[in-house]
Amino acid sequence: MKYLVYIFCFAFIFSCNSKEKNENIEENVAGKKVYDMYQPSEMATLMNEMYAENLKIKNEILAGNTPEVFPTDFLKINTAQLSDFKKRNAKFEAFSKLYIVAEQDVFNSESAMPVKDRFNNAVGICISCHQTECTGPIPRIKKLLIK
Ligand code: HEC
Repeated sequence: MKYLVYIFCFAFIFSCNSKEKNENIEENVAGKKVYDMYQPSEMATLMNEMYAENLKIKNEILAGNTPEVFPTDFLKINTAQLSDFKKRNAKFEAFSKLYIVAEQDVFNSESAMPVKDRFNNAVGICISCHQTECTGPIPRIKKLLIK
């Protein structure tokens, strides 16, 4: 019972579409595959990497350093597979392009805009995209913003 509670919490935190995921969980619980039931998609894994990388960039900026090298892994957003229940739709494509442009601008040494503002713009696009279809991680993403 205790595990079930954990599983549901987990699903709640990570899921962008809890209804369908809950159905999966029930099947998996019935099949006793409780432990390995959460298999992050390629996109979910990439998103977690982007989160970690942006946290490092934030700390660099707060330390007064200027981030110099755009992490090209971020470009995988254009190709990574989403979870089964998600589709790459027009909104996703539009926001992912905007995101890459904004994130690249963080590393633009010729920009007249303070790096903090450029960084916050990029994080703002993470949030905007999430508002369209995957609201769960928004509170976490907001923590990346530099005040
Ligand atoms: C173009 C839209 C879009 C942008 C931009 C975007 N995300 Fe996501 N994000 C998604 C979608 C869709 C998912 C769900 C992926 C899946 O389940 O396959 C997701 C999932 C996540 C997750 C949950 C991963 C998991 O373990 O389930 C986190 C955390 C996350 N994004 C953080 C970020 C951060 C941080 C940024 C900016 C640096 C960002 N996202 C930019 C659409 C976006």
